[in-house]
Amino acid sequence: MTDHDVRVLDDSQFRTAHTLFRGTLHNAPAPDEQWKVVQESYEPGRALGAFADGKMIGTVQSFPSRMAVPGGAVVQHGAVSRVGVRADWTRRGVLSALQRAQLRAMRSAGDVVASLRASETMIYGRYGYGVASRFRYLDIDRRRAAPRSRPVGRVRLVEGEAGERIARELFDELTLRRAGTISRWPSWWTLNVRRAAVEQNLKIAVRSSSVPSGPSGDDGYVVFKVEPGENDPRQGKQTRLSVLDLWAGNAEAWADLWLFVLGVDLVGEVSAEGRPVDEPVQWLLGDPRACRVPDEFDETWLRLLDVPTALTARTYREGEPVVLGVRDVYLPENSGSYRVTADGVTRVEDEPELVVDVDVLASAYLGDVSFSTLAATRRLDVVEPDALARADTLFAVAEVPWCGSYF
Ligand SMILES: CC(C)(COP(=O)(O)OP(=O)(O)OC[C@H]1O[C@@H](n2cnc3c(N)ncnc32)[C@H](O)[C@@H]1OP(=O)(O)O)[C@@H](O)C(=O)NCCC(=O)NCCS
Repeated sequence: MTDHDVRVLDDSQFRTAHTLFRGTLHNAPAPDEQWKVVQESYEPGRALGAFADGKMIGTVQSFPSRMAVPGGAVVQHGAVSRVGVRADWTRRGVLSALQRAQLRAMRSAGDVVASLRASETMIYGRYGYGVASRFRYLDIDRRRAAPRSRPVGRVRLVEGEAGERIARELFDELTLRRAGTISRWPSWWTLNVRRAAVEQNLKIAVRSSSVPSGPSGDDGYVVFKVEPGENDPRQGKQTRLSVLDLWAGNAEAWADLWLFVLGVDLVGEVSAEGRPVDEPVQWLLGDPRACRVPDEFDETWLRLLDVPTALTARTYREGEPVVLGVRDVYLPENSGSYRVTADGVTRVEDEPELVVDVDVLASAYLGDVSFSTLAATRRLDVVEPDALARADTLFAVAEVPWCGSYF
């Protein structure tokens, strides 16, 4: 018997939930103007609250989305966010109760996977979330960079709503190609681009090829902002251009967009965060050391909600089969043995050759980490040592997974 219960929130409770969540991040409640924008992002049925003595003490939420998996298939995805428990109720099992209810609700709603960004790394493994993709930060000393070439297409600044509209259309066309990328929900754009465009003076530049390809000819965009520094470089604070969102449909467009931001005058440093770990920006530069990678970070924390459907959705490389045993405490119907072959996956009664908790399977699922690495770091049980190489071969991917959408 617990001293709290979990319920699906209705419209009248969204603001309380949002205020509660902001409080757990040590932020003040959203003012009325901000709330008008934020409330649209609460999806009916997807926000939960924990209650004690008639008061809300914790909340979780998810956005409806889709995710690309290796091989190109796209599965229904819940993007989990706004997780918080009031400071006077922490470490009493409130998040665990919310997680139990949320995992079950997302699975019942047909979400095959869920993902989130973790404020702290010790929280979510127990609920079956594993790190499945990484991103990196870049800092480029623009005055040293000496780009090796000039844009070959046209990059133009597009102001106001037109810029956002083109960016949204291009994003929808360009995402879901790489494993780990997701679709964005309408309020993502409102909160991250439209609102920030005013508050932070965001700029949007759109690239088109000199030989138009698609219907519009546009094949990439970059959202960025410039924070002015001191005119006198001895003051230390440089003018910084931050790349916030950059998507390109081909290698030429990608290079042109980076060359464009590197070419903006009166900027000392070009920085970016949330970029894929395999993005070769340094190769564009005359001085590759001008591009530093100050940090690499866990990006997608992935939860396989429906293991058989998720395993079946992705493709596998040619190789000998392997039998995986999966343990899932929160969604026990996922527990069992799965025979993975180059042609697909079947549920079997066979003894497993490798046994993984569902969070560890999530880490291997998009291909970012191999079963051998997971075994070497004692994250899985090896029953049949030969099986490691077979699993590595089957799950290997050509392109490192990346999401590229923060939520
Ligand atoms: C993170 C948070 C939601 C956890 O809520 P909670 O109700 O205290 O979690 P629970 O009591 O259900 O904890 C379950 C288990 O996770 C552990 N745990 C929870 N939060 C943890 C943390 N931040 N670091 C380490 N362990 C944590 C608990 O110790 C407990 O372990 P046990 O089962 O071995 O006893 C809450 O601390 C919070 O709101 N933090 C600030 C906001 C935040 O970071 N939100 C997450 C945004 S991604």
